[in-house]
Amino acid sequence: MKIAVLPGDGIGPEVMEQAVKVLQAVSGQGFEIELQYAAIGGAGYDAAGDPLPAATLKLARAADAILLGAVGGFKYDSLPRPMRPEQGLLRIRKELNLFANLRPAQLYPELADASTLKPEVVAGLDLMIVRELTSDLYFGQPRGIHVNADGEREGYNTMRYTESEVRRVAHIGLQIAMKRNKKLCSVEKANVLETSELWREVVIETAKQYPEVELSHMYVDNAAMQLVRNPKQFDVILTGNIFGDILSDEASMLTGSIGMLGSASLDQNRKGMYEPIHGSAPDIAGKDAANPLATILSAAMMLRYTFAHDALADRIENAVRKTISAGLRTADIHTPGTTRIGCAAMGDAVVAAL
Ligand code: IPM
Ligand code: MG
Repeated sequence: MKIAVLPGDGIGPEVMEQAVKVLQAVSGQGFEIELQYAAIGGAGYDAAGDPLPAATLKLARAADAILLGAVGGFKYDSLPRPMRPEQGLLRIRKELNLFANLRPAQLYPELADASTLKPEVVAGLDLMIVRELTSDLYFGQPRGIHVNADGEREGYNTMRYTESEVRRVAHIGLQIAMKRNKKLCSVEKANVLETSELWREVVIETAKQYPEVELSHMYVDNAAMQLVRNPKQFDVILTGNIFGDILSDEASMLTGSIGMLGSASLDQNRKGMYEPIHGSAPDIAGKDAANPLATILSAAMMLRYTFAHDALADRIENAVRKTISAGLRTADIHTPGTTRIGCAAMGDAVVAAL
């Protein structure tokens, strides 16, 4: 199995080191891995003057799956937009057609205290956000900043979805719902936006092929409210790129820390890029303080979704659970009475639990 490893910036390299340790610990058991490293984001800009160097894209295309750390850093914030680290991420998603972004939010019972919500609101939480990842406001043309007829500067972006783009991600959401509790809530803003009106129509049409799935629809403002009011009402949330970006950060906080959640971005053939949903956290980079569990759990998702090695994915997830049960915590999830450890020690603990 050829895996392209793109550590990126900030805490990316240190959390990646831990995930690689874990992959190496399970490899050789019916699963041989070949890791190939390349630069992306700020690291890509530093190495090749491009946040997505041509060599990195080539490697990613040739790989079976991609494991990514994080991109971004203060020192790149003043670069022209096309050179910024985030563009490396957006371009690789688009180039590889990774249109379906799966962001699970699961609460480990021991971490109920780490959430800012009441334990009874979040206990047992297990939801999956399926976010469309290669269209919408993020990529819609026209876009830009111009001087308008009144001589005033004006910024504009375009929200757009074609029906085929909605249909293919709706299929993924519905298929995932079939494997879970068969409930799918499609989130949009159809009371105001035509793009959302079409989204809703296409989701309804597509869902006819999955009669067992209980389909509901919710406006995004209400969904944002319901996520903190009663998040356990949701099983699978299907939504567009911009709404999914916002709602998935909100959902991560229900679980106590954004440092716990992995993600998968899949193409039509289940080739995927796997990454923690957190960012590069430049303020704590290099201090051995980051939580590597989101990246380790992303590696488990890779085994599950791209390599169909469910047993190995289960083993890694169980090892993470054991480590948490043993009271080991990085700073972001540390509560009184638990043992605070660093990033590398957390990686070692998961390997030991394996
Ligand atoms: C995410 C991130 C990215 C996004 C940024 C870094 C471009 O917030 O993966 O959610 O907006 O998609
Ligand atoms: Mg985001």
